[in-house]
Amino acid sequence: MSLIRLDKFLADAGLGTRSQVKLLLKKGPVAVNGKPARRPEQKVDPEKDEISHEGMPIFCHESYYYMLNKPAGYVSATEDNTAPTVLSLLKGAAGRGLFPVGRLDKDTEGLLLITNDGPLAHRLLSPRHHVDKTYLVKASGTITPHDLARLESGIDIGEKAPTLPAKARLLSLESCSQETGDGQTVSLVELTIHEGKFHQVKRMFQAIGKPVLYLKRLSMGSLTLDESLSQGAFRPLTKEEISALKSF
Ligand code: URA
Repeated sequence: MSLIRLDKFLADAGLGTRSQVKLLLKKGPVAVNGKPARRPEQKVDPEKDEISHEGMPIFCHESYYYMLNKPAGYVSATEDNTAPTVLSLLKGAAGRGLFPVGRLDKDTEGLLLITNDGPLAHRLLSPRHHVDKTYLVKASGTITPHDLARLESGIDIGEKAPTLPAKARLLSLESCSQETGDGQTVSLVELTIHEGKFHQVKRMFQAIGKPVLYLKRLSMGSLTLDESLSQGAFRPLTKEEISALKSF
């Protein structure tokens, strides 16, 4: 592909009109091959240059979207020296420059969106958009109505502000669990949060004194985990799933 202006590349990639893109460049979150890029007229080669917005790669070739049922033991990254990455599970999947949208902890399971659509990933992760994320949580101990109220109303997890209001629903209480091995109660809770702070769910349950034993993400925005996917399996998103994600 031939060289094109950076502002045209960014506008074609969906980051805004040419004039919006010029303003964006002035703010400084765009980089070409790791170096800050502020000049709209800078020439780039979309095939060779690595262009990123706020650290997220942008590609002008065809976008690909996959749903992965992440198993425990895999890190949500494109590269890691210590453990296998979620991308190693996508062998044979079409698409250059795929990356996971957001992070699930190494021991967390469930829904992970993998794509090479940087602008969409950026919108989904932006704290401004408050995309709902629903988790199945197995927590140690008995979750009481008071605990649910605290989880829902916002809780101090050591950040500047308490967590935003959330939805928490007790699904069941189980005793003699294998997890604790000591006959204590384990609670199963469905929790929906609208933000994505580091280890947020684990820290919320820690704050009520009922540590998380198991965590699985069930949905993110309009996208719901396809339960027919076995652990470690993936599939392309349907057209409907893609347009629903893009239209929030
Ligand atoms: N919250 C956590 O604590 N861990 C995850 O993996 C996701 C949300």
